[in-house]
Order: sequence, then structure tokens, then C-alpha cells
Amino acid sequence: MTKVLIPGSFDPLHYGHIDVVDQALELFGEVVVAVLVNFAKPSGLFSPDERVALAVDSLADRSNVTVDAFEGLVIDVASAAGADFIVKGLRTSADYDIEQQMAHMNRSSGGIRTVFVPCNPEYSFVSSRFIREIASHGGAIDHLVPPNVAAALTDRFTDAR
Ligand code: PNS
Repeated sequence: MTKVLIPGSFDPLHYGHIDVVDQALELFGEVVVAVLVNFAKPSGLFSPDERVALAVDSLADRSNVTVDAFEGLVIDVASAAGADFIVKGLRTSADYDIEQQMAHMNRSSGGIRTVFVPCNPEYSFVSSRFIREIASHGGAIDHLVPPNVAAALTDRFTDAR
């Protein structure tokens, strides 16, 4: 079995992320979902521990998947986890531009390869950023995120109002 690391902000996890986890499970067999800090967006809606808890609940019925929060570089996290590859989902050509650059940076710094999987077209427009924005206005997000994530978003923005 091949172990792969799927890193991301996951603020919060949505159905597009879960599709990538399922593709990676099918292709490789074992997945570590790593909640990491994106330097470009250091503060988030949910804390890293909350993001992990939401992802653990959402992925609870899958075997061979673990979820945890990490600090530092993704190449160090991948090495410590014993991951053979990093896996990233691609929605659009804009994703490809940034992800290809990160893949080359990570390969040159840490030696680990990144494997891209095309996301299911059904989720090609889904992003955590827009989910947070729509949820903050009380808009419909139930078709984009698992029920536990939808409930957490509702609670967070109800608390804030
Ligand atoms: O879901 P995101 O925000 O697109 O995920 C980006 C993330 C967290 C995977 C990326 O910012 C990352 O790898 N952060 C860890 C720090 C690191 O290794 N940076 C160098 C990237 S070349």
C-alpha cells in the first residue's frame, strides 16, 4: 500500500476535498490529511484543532485515513509521516499554476513528488473561501459540505451575529 499526504488549510473541509481523499484512497490505499498553515492566510475561521475535528467526523466511515494538524513545512510533515507522495486536487488552470510551482519547490527542497488528481467536475467551483462567505450571510451551503461542517458554520456565524 502506498501512503500519501494531502495537505491543505481545510477551513473548512468540503465535498471537493472529500472527493480528492476518495480518489487518493482508490489510487494509493492510505491517506494522511494534514491541516497546515498557509502563509498567505494565517488566521482562519476555524482553529486547526477545530478543522481536524470536523474532518475526522466527516471522514469517519473511511478506513486507512488519518487526519491531524501540523506546523512547519509540508516536506517535513510528509517525511515524518512516511508519505511516498503528496497528493493535490486541481479544479482549474489557476490551481495548476500555483500547485505546479509548489510541487517544484517541494521536490527541489525535500525530494518528494506531488501527484495531481483532477477534481470531480461536480465540485470544480467549490472553495472554502466562498463557503465561508456564503455561510456568513446565512446562504445555502448544505450541498457543498458535510452536515457536521454545515452545523459548525451555522453555529460560528450565529455566535458572531
Ligand atoms: O488549502 P491551501 O490553503 O491551498 O493549502 C496550502 C498549503 C497549506 C498546503 C501550503 O500553504 C503549505 O504547504 N503550507 C505549509 C508550509 C510549506 O511547506 N510551505 C511551502 C510551500 S512550497
